Amino acid sequence: LSRILRRRTRLEQYSSIEDAVKLIKTSKKIIILSGAGISTSCGIPDFRSSTGLYANLQNEGKFDLDDPQQMFDISYFREKPEVFYSFAKQIYPSNFIPSPCHRWIKLLEDKGVLLRNYTQNIDTLESLAGVQNVLQCHGSFKTASCLRCKTRVPGQNIEPYIMSQQVPYCGICKAKRAEEMELQKKIKESLKKSKGKAKASWDDQDDSEEEEREWGGGEPGIIKPDITFFGQALDSEFDECLFKDREEVDLLIVIGTSLKVAPVSEVLTHIPHSVPQIYINLTPVHHVHPDICLLGDADSIVTYLSDRLGWNIPLPTAVPKP
Ligand code: APR
Repeated sequence: LSRILRRRTRLEQYSSIEDAVKLIKTSKKIIILSGAGISTSCGIPDFRSSTGLYANLQNEGKFDLDDPQQMFDISYFREKPEVFYSFAKQIYPSNFIPSPCHRWIKLLEDKGVLLRNYTQNIDTLESLAGVQNVLQCHGSFKTASCLRCKTRVPGQNIEPYIMSQQVPYCGICKAKRAEEMELQKKIKESLKKSKGKAKASWDDQDDSEEEEREWGGGEPGIIKPDITFFGQALDSEFDECLFKDREEVDLLIVIGTSLKVAPVSEVLTHIPHSVPQIYINLTPVHHVHPDICLLGDADSIVTYLSDRLGWNIPLPTAVPKP
């Protein structure tokens, strides 16, 4: 009891928490913008904290990276997919349980006041918590696509490769390539026959490079999870949703993100200035100025807010694997 009271005392230092309670109580169309900070209590590291993924990658020095963010860079992935696939199992969503934050988002939805959850996370814990109206701005492991022929497959298809740290190649591409090579061979043979014995000068050229160029050069049909890498555009759904939601939203709550990565970080400037913004995070943010900043552990803050609102955050239920 003393720990909870101590926590509450700490929280009540922020006088504006009263305003936050009033705003949540009276809002009907709330956008929640969430980041890695709402999953840290589930055991999933965030990216930029001192104990985050990037610090670990830097300190471990296990992977051939100039910068930790290269792990999620599309050009680096095309060049060395084996680096990402030797690491991916560390971030692959397995038996994590949604946090009180995930369940609070679901509670807002059950109360009919969640307009949409824009999440930057790829762990799909929002869906596991039962949130229906969640937009995975940076994609997820739910599906995967071939970089060459764009064939999309269920994420489970590449799970064995992720777990065994192997690069998955696209079978469709390979079959297509073999077909094209076969066809080219047949065309060459018939051309040779029609030219009789005379060896055409072009016979001697080694045109494998030319074939590679025809085949579209460096994309040998690697399959990549549908998570947005640096250097890739977000799915158009992000713009479409934001364009629609900006007309309806009456409160923006940002939870557990450093707001360092555009375009998601720019949501705050894309909604009307009249819409109040609440920022819930362990550390302060300086490049944007939300109306209310509640600094501390997100789970504790949303639990405290719920207490003040007379709400009960549902306990975790046994959730099926995605
Ligand atoms: N409670 C509240 N805040 C927390 C907690 C917690 N328990 N744990 C961590 N945080 C805060 C950290 O202080 C940090 O400010 O969450 C924030 C997480 O920020 P980042 O690590 O930068 O993660 P995020 O903002 O989600 O990153 C955005 O960057 O690399 C890309 O695609 C990746 O989606 C990711 C994007």
